[in-house]
Amino acid sequence: MTTYPKTAALMARGRAFLGTEHAILCGAMSWVSERNLVSAISNAGGFGVIACGAMTPELLDAEIAATRALTSKPFGVNLITMHPQLFELIEVCARHSVGHVVLAGGIPPKGSLEAIKAFDAKVIVFAPTLALAKKLLRSGGDALVIEGMEAGGHIGPVSTSVLAQEFLPELSADHLVFVAGGIGRGEAIAGYLEMGAVGVQLGTRFACATESIAHPEFKKAFFRAGARDAVASVQVDPRLPVIPVRALKNKGTEHFTAKQREVAGLLDTDGIEMIEAQLQIEHYWAGALRRAVIDGDIENGSLMAGQSVGMVKAEEPVADIIGQLMAESEAALARR
Ligand SMILES: Cc1cc2nc3c(=O)[nH]c(=O)nc-3n(C[C@H](O)[C@H](O)[C@H](O)COP(=O)(O)O)c2cc1C
Repeated sequence: MTTYPKTAALMARGRAFLGTEHAILCGAMSWVSERNLVSAISNAGGFGVIACGAMTPELLDAEIAATRALTSKPFGVNLITMHPQLFELIEVCARHSVGHVVLAGGIPPKGSLEAIKAFDAKVIVFAPTLALAKKLLRSGGDALVIEGMEAGGHIGPVSTSVLAQEFLPELSADHLVFVAGGIGRGEAIAGYLEMGAVGVQLGTRFACATESIAHPEFKKAFFRAGARDAVASVQVDPRLPVIPVRALKNKGTEHFTAKQREVAGLLDTDGIEMIEAQLQIEHYWAGALRRAVIDGDIENGSLMAGQSVGMVKAEEPVADIIGQLMAESEAALARR
């Protein structure tokens, strides 16, 4: 007998797919989603996901092993599709028999889905449009995350509420869809479940959990911030199609504008390829996020955060956060 029967029933397909008590994923957050937070999420009945980010295969290998030492529950690994060693990283996942791989950051390159399915792992994909979602689900994606522009980190242009209305009626009968972006309370979870989602993914709400290794200054910046402080970066040069990033406003936001000008200049003078220009931008983000999360430089680093940051008020254990979300969802469903 579960404490949250109505929510658990609506999450049933998501829970079965993830192998968890609750169909709540903690989305991968570079530097934040490492062994401690990931294992805490999974131990609390959610689904933790290691953020591989720019890690080398050796580092990923060590991180998976260390996470396994801290939890016997299922967890996943998030790989960025444009990582130059994507296929080596997939091999590392295969060696560890990782059960779920999340492919983020763009269209999965040819052969990547097949390489993951070859060791029987489930593949979770992101898709910004319905047409691409259908294509990825046809070509081997086992589940889909739709993520709205309220989210922290790299974002698309469309809000979660609109994506949910576009994707869920069309896909939820035959496919597993998780909703992400802007979720801070369980009432929102209940709403998306009723629309056909099988679960949800949150990042911002978990970033400052007690078990998160984020620097105390990073956490304090989250506790102080409100929704309107979490702004999307702007594109300064139309030739450089940078993916917008939502983060708390600080000096780092201005540095990013300067970085874009510098990289756009390289396109002119050194004739570097567009893919190289984009990689430079992504390396910039990885470095800036590290400065904030690990070093606590909240002025110059990147404080990636979603609009739900205003609902993050204090450090709380992961189990309490998950308990609150489930209780709020259950209470909302009970009122229907
Ligand atoms: C600090 C931070 C870092 C993130 N890094 C990544 C990442 O490396 N890869 C990724 O796929 N998503 C990343 N995300 C997005 C999260 O996985 C998640 O989808 C998102 O936070 C959900 O929206 P929410 O922030 O509104 O809860 C990041 C988000 C935050 C807040």
